[in-house]
Amino acid sequence: MRAVTFHGRRDVRVGDVPDPAIQEPTDAIVRVTTTGLCGSDLHLYEVLSMFMEEGDVLGHEPIGIVEEVGPAVTHIAPGDRVVVPFNIACGDCFFCNRELYAQCETTQVTEHGKGAALFGYTKLYGQVPGGQAEYLRVPQAHFGPIKVPEGPPDERLVYLADVAPTAWQAVEWAAIPPGGTCTVVGLGPIGQLAARVALHRGASRVLGIDLVPDRLAMAQRHGVEALDLREHDDVAAVVRERTEGRGTDAAIDAVGLEAHGSGMAKALQRAAGMLPDALAEPVTLAAGIDRLHALRLAIDCVRRGGTLSISGVYGGALDPLPLFDLFDKGIQIRMGQAHVRRWTDDLLPLVTDDADPLGLDDLTTHTLPLDDAPRAYELFQRKEDGAVKVLLRP
Ligand SMILES: NC(=O)c1ccc[n+]([C@@H]2O[C@H](COP(=O)([O-])OP(=O)(O)OC[C@H]3O[C@@H](n4cnc5c(N)ncnc54)[C@H](O)[C@@H]3O)[C@@H](O)[C@H]2O)c1
Ligand SMILES: [Zn+2]
Ligand SMILES: [Zn+2]
Repeated sequence: MRAVTFHGRRDVRVGDVPDPAIQEPTDAIVRVTTTGLCGSDLHLYEVLSMFMEEGDVLGHEPIGIVEEVGPAVTHIAPGDRVVVPFNIACGDCFFCNRELYAQCETTQVTEHGKGAALFGYTKLYGQVPGGQAEYLRVPQAHFGPIKVPEGPPDERLVYLADVAPTAWQAVEWAAIPPGGTCTVVGLGPIGQLAARVALHRGASRVLGIDLVPDRLAMAQRHGVEALDLREHDDVAAVVRERTEGRGTDAAIDAVGLEAHGSGMAKALQRAAGMLPDALAEPVTLAAGIDRLHALRLAIDCVRRGGTLSISGVYGGALDPLPLFDLFDKGIQIRMGQAHVRRWTDDLLPLVTDDADPLGLDDLTTHTLPLDDAPRAYELFQRKEDGAVKVLLRP
């Protein structure tokens, strides 16, 4: 089958790999019909490339049709339309019973001291072949795949795999009081949807910060007060000015470790990226530093006693964080990978509603054939041609 494979920093290719097959009774095989590119894929493409191996199949946002199921898989059958969550969880362990699916104890990658295995996401997370491919082997398929109805387009339902639950969790973790305010730092797909979910769930105002005009304009179309980072020397001061001098009740970081505007850390990340993988890996694990501009900005924008919710992915071991500010302001912090299945029952009615309450029809900017994946990665990374969310069609 055809699949998007990793070959080095900024080098993905589409090639032939062996067809996946059922290996465990709890497996399923899904024929992928549409599959997303995520900001997390961009981290692998750039600063976390040392944890990838030549030929690894990328991708973790698939929707498709069940081809085959193992004998232990009973809630889905061949021919069913399913969305596959990006984290792989068993549904019945210490953590799954607490709905902390991103920490599933059955799939945890203990060898590297990490949480649940993820599709297409480095050896630190199990090196499980990903969903940017014609076919996907789904482990723990007796629990993971979400059966979805015929009717709504792939372009909407595919967001159940990652973006919508991640945004939903970001807002849940942000604990915005009824009628309260929230700043969303970063208006990529995650930030766009987090802002919309916050408004949908009762926030009175959402202020969004980015530096890409198309993304600011998209947020504005959905009721967000958009602030262009490049137009303000101190954008957090603008957020405070607009909130009676206090800052917003909550702030969501939807940027992560490659934030624009962190020159020193960028140079260090680049230097680690230049090392051979055998050296870069231990250096990054022991002494890696994230680009913290966005996280610091979020800390600056949240009011005293407010909540900071971090969806952006971080991987640093020695990050210099402003603990004085965090402590003095009495900020609560919640973060982590989304526990996808925990939120999909809340989301399914919204995603399948013809009225499209989350405006999902205005998120996908490009749908390209799988064979155009190299161009798709480039476009998404460079944010060219108005790219916000890019999907591939195998
Ligand atoms: N927690 C989870 O489960 C989960 C799931 C999916 C994605 N993510 C992470 O969420 C983050 C965002 O993903 P995405 O798909 O929206 O990616 P993206 O790269 O398209 O979005 C990031 C946005 O942040 C903006 N940005 C960069 N530096 C900034 C700064 N200093 N201030 C304000 N804005 C800035 C960029 O212009 C871009 O629009 C990534 O780190 C991704 O890995 C986490
Ligand atoms: Zn993702
Ligand atoms: Zn589990």
